Amino acid sequence: MTDAAAALAATVPVAVIGAGTMGSGIALVAAKAGHPVLLHDANPQAIQRGIDGLRRDLDRLVDKGKISAAARDAQLGRITPMPSIDDIGPAGFVIEAIIEDFSVKRDLFRRVEAAVAPNAILSTNTSSLSVTALAAVIERPERFLGVHFFNPAPILPLVEIVSGHVTAPAVAATAFATCRAWGKTPVHCRSTPGFIVNRVARPFYGETLRLIAEGAATPATLDAILREAGGFRMGPCELMDLIGHDVNYAVTRTVWELLFQDPRYKPSLVQKELVDSGQLGRKTGRGFYDYAKGAPPPVP
Ligand code: NAI
Repeated sequence: MTDAAAALAATVPVAVIGAGTMGSGIALVAAKAGHPVLLHDANPQAIQRGIDGLRRDLDRLVDKGKISAAARDAQLGRITPMPSIDDIGPAGFVIEAIIEDFSVKRDLFRRVEAAVAPNAILSTNTSSLSVTALAAVIERPERFLGVHFFNPAPILPLVEIVSGHVTAPAVAATAFATCRAWGKTPVHCRSTPGFIVNRVARPFYGETLRLIAEGAATPATLDAILREAGGFRMGPCELMDLIGHDVNYAVTRTVWELLFQDPRYKPSLVQKELVDSGQLGRKTGRGFYDYAKGAPPPVP
């Protein structure tokens, strides 16, 4: 794979679809690099919520003296709410970060492809769905790829640049160069179940959930052990609460299915119960931990 391609010029509008945890963060990354950003969500309130969340984050940086008020205003000023997906025409780079559901993403990309220019790059932030299979739903699959940011997108540097079976190498190289120009650390990979990080991380979550189901240890104990003895920045339960159990459960199910139901990747009932009860983690105020009572305890 050649990485000689030029990054997209900062004048190229970037459309981010989905203004939740990931989409709002990705919008900020692109806006910070100077791009005009169109931010869309099926739920109009989510767009405002996403922008309000970014404003709070940037206000904190201003208060700490890390950025100027002018820089905050400039970054936010480049993000334009886009209530209708039909207004996506000017975008040269589309990054989708909606619900982790193949058929919902498929329907969206068909609409997007009909509205954007033929040379626009279309990408998904999916954690686990097949980029090859998603690419196949549009007319020109060679311009489609995965651009997988990590949570929180404005902070974590890694981005997996995921090529499907027919992604044009030039498209992957442009996405790679663009992410590098955005200050990220991109890495090329192929569309395999879970790509690199989520594949490696599945047993980290899976064995944790098995230990909880077997009553071996509490989430607080497991987190403290992995954080303090294992040297991880976050324990597995805190991390699952941050990711969102709905997202993490969907990813687990997809990786398990894509690997022909390999029992090593089998989803857990512990995870399913959290999802069914709406205890999705930080975003709902409760997951393994009750965030109304503050952050997880450091030591059990
Ligand atoms: P989220 O639940 O925070 O946000 C998803 C947003 O998509 C919601 O605001 C929802 O209203 C919107 N949406 C749903 N269907 C839509 C549609 N048809 N058109 C437009 N908007 C629609 O989800 P999150 O966590 O931001 O995840 C988004 C994507 O990013 C998923 O594919 C997920 O697998 C992936 N991802 C998530 C990570 C995480 O740690 N949460 C990390 C890396 C990738």
